[in-house]
Amino acid sequence: MSSSNFLIVSLALLLVIALSFIPNFASASVKEETALLKWKASLQIPNNSQLLSSWTPLPMNSSAMAPCSWFGISCNADGNIYRLNLTSSKLKGTLNQFPFSILHDVTDFNLSVNNFFGRIPPEIGLLSKLVYLNLSDNQFSGVIPPEISQLVNLVELGLSKNLLEGSIPPTIVNQFEKSIPNTE
Ligand SMILES: *[C@@H]1O[C@H](CO)[C@@H](O)[C@H](O)[C@H]1NC(C)=O
Ligand SMILES: *[C@@H]1O[C@H](CO)[C@@H](O)[C@H](O)[C@H]1NC(C)=O
Ligand SMILES: *[C@@H]1O[C@H](CO)[C@@H](O)[C@H](O)[C@H]1NC(C)=O
Ligand SMILES: *[C@@H]1O[C@H](CO)[C@@H](O)[C@H](O)[C@H]1NC(C)=O
Ligand SMILES: *[C@@H]1O[C@H](CO)[C@@H](O)[C@H](O)[C@H]1NC(C)=O
Repeated sequence: MSSSNFLIVSLALLLVIALSFIPNFASASVKEETALLKWKASLQIPNNSQLLSSWTPLPMNSSAMAPCSWFGISCNADGNIYRLNLTSSKLKGTLNQFPFSILHDVTDFNLSVNNFFGRIPPEIGLLSKLVYLNLSDNQFSGVIPPEISQLVNLVELGLSKNLLEGSIPPTIVNQFEKSIPNTE
């Protein structure tokens, strides 16, 4: 093969690879958007709150990316959500409809200082990339799900000021101790 043919073949191959990513990219965010809107619909949001007013579907022709441009949401370079920060947003509701199985790239999850109630669903264990989880200052009740020990990357956990029973699984506590420098 001459070098110019090789170049053309390489470029064509690159194009095919690049194009193959586009539909995945779009469908990932549409899936996240749909799932989060379903969760939002289950919440009681104060009438005067503007906080989640950005949480609406964007028109198809919009160049902005929903849900990456929504309040409290940050996306990585692949267009997947890695941070959800809805602290102090006066939100009331449960995590029962929260799309744990879809938001698998989330590393930072902050729901502290709201009025969330009910159980912490065992599906929390599906957020396997979580580094930071703060559910403090809500009305979560019931036992802390043992599945929380599946969060092997977790470095900071806030569960205080809730109505939770039981204790944090010891495996997770060990993990924090390991992550704190200068303790040995
Ligand atoms: C919010 O608005 C709805 C419909 O307009 C009304 O039924 C409800 O009572 C309002 N809630 C509060 C807390 O004002
Ligand atoms: C998208 O389409 C709507 C109506 O179909 C139009 O009003 C709006 O200006 C368009 N937006 C952009 C960013 O092109
Ligand atoms: C989370 O949101 C709060 C309030 O909106 C803000 O003060 C805080 O800096 C945010 N955290 C991050 C990591 O962006
Ligand atoms: C989470 O929210 C709490 C309370 O508003 C704030 O102190 C903390 O910095 C936030 N952390 C992150 C990582 O967003
Ligand atoms: C979690 O949020 C609370 C606010 O209720 C804040 O005081 C605490 O520092 C946060 N915990 C972590 C680990 O960031």
